[in-house]
Amino acid sequence: MINPELKKIIDFLFLHKGIDFSGYRLAMLERRTQKRLFKTKCSNYSEYLEYLKQHVSELDQLLHVYTINVSSFCRNSLSFGILRNEVFPSILEQKKEEKNKNIRIWSSACARGEEPYSIAIILNEIFERTKVDYPFYIIGTDIDKLALDNAENAIYSAESIENVKHGMVKRYFTESNRQFRLNTNIKEMVQFSYYNLLNEKQKVPPESIYGDFDIVFCRNVLIYLDEQQQKIVFDKLYHSLKPNGYLVLGEAEVPIVEFKHKFRRLGRHCKIYRKVTFL
Ligand SMILES: C[S@@+](CC[C@H](N)C(=O)[O-])C[C@H]1O[C@@H](n2cnc3c(N)ncnc32)[C@H](O)[C@@H]1O
Repeated sequence: MINPELKKIIDFLFLHKGIDFSGYRLAMLERRTQKRLFKTKCSNYSEYLEYLKQHVSELDQLLHVYTINVSSFCRNSLSFGILRNEVFPSILEQKKEEKNKNIRIWSSACARGEEPYSIAIILNEIFERTKVDYPFYIIGTDIDKLALDNAENAIYSAESIENVKHGMVKRYFTESNRQFRLNTNIKEMVQFSYYNLLNEKQKVPPESIYGDFDIVFCRNVLIYLDEQQQKIVFDKLYHSLKPNGYLVLGEAEVPIVEFKHKFRRLGRHCKIYRKVTFL
C-alpha cells in the first residue's frame, strides 16, 4: 500500500511533468524519494511536498532519481554479439531486395546514449566490412532530460565503456582525464529526443514521423513498470515495428502474456524477438 503522502508527491510530479510514476515499483519509489528527502533536508514526505511546491527545479531532480539511468556501452555483450553477427547482416541482406533501403532503429529508453551509440558503432563497423552504405536513421528517446543532455554531450566515464574492446575504445573515443569523448562521426549518427513510452496519444516519437522500425530496443525499463503500463508499452512497440522487425529487451524482461504470441524469440540465449505479423 502506498503511503498517501508519497502518493501526493507522485501526483504532483504527474501534474507538472506529465509522467505518471504511480505504476512504477513501490519499493523503488520509496527508496529514491528518501534520497531526495535526505538531500533537501526534509524530515518527511509532506515537508518534501512543500519543498517541491516552492522549488520548481527540484521536480527535475526527483524525476532524475526515479529514472534509473544505469547503462553502459554494449551492455550485455551476448546480445550485442548476436546483433553484430546475425541480426544486422540479416537486415542488410533483406534491404538488398527492398526498394526502400533505409535502416530504421529506435532506442526507446536510451538513458545517457550508451545504447544507441553502441548500435551506431556496430553499424559503422558492418558498413566498413561489407562495403555497403545504406541510409539509416537511429533515434534515442527518454523521459529524463538531464540524461538526454548527457547523451548529446557524449562524454563517458571509464565504467561506461568497460565492455568495449580496447581497439574500439582507441578508435572511437578520445581520452582526457579518465573521461572518454565519443568521436563526432559516431555522435552524428544518432538523434535524441524526449519521448514518454507511457504516452498513449503519441504512438511513436514525433521526430521519427512514422514508425516502421527495423529494430526497436526497449531494455531495462519494463522491469520498473506494472502490468497495465507494460501493456501500453508492448502495444506501442508492436505497432512501431515493421513486419518481422526485431525487438530487443533487457535480460530480465519478457513479453507479457497478451503479447507472447506476437513476438517470436530468436534463441534461448538472448532476449531478441521478431514481430509476428498476422495476415
Ligand atoms: C536503466 S535505464 C536503461 C538504459 C538502456 N536501455 C540500457 O538497458 O542500458 C532506464 C531508462 O528508462 C527511462 N525511462 C523510465 N520510464 C520511461 C518512460 N515512461 N518512457 C521513456 N523512458 C523511460 C529512464 O529515464 C532511464 O533512462
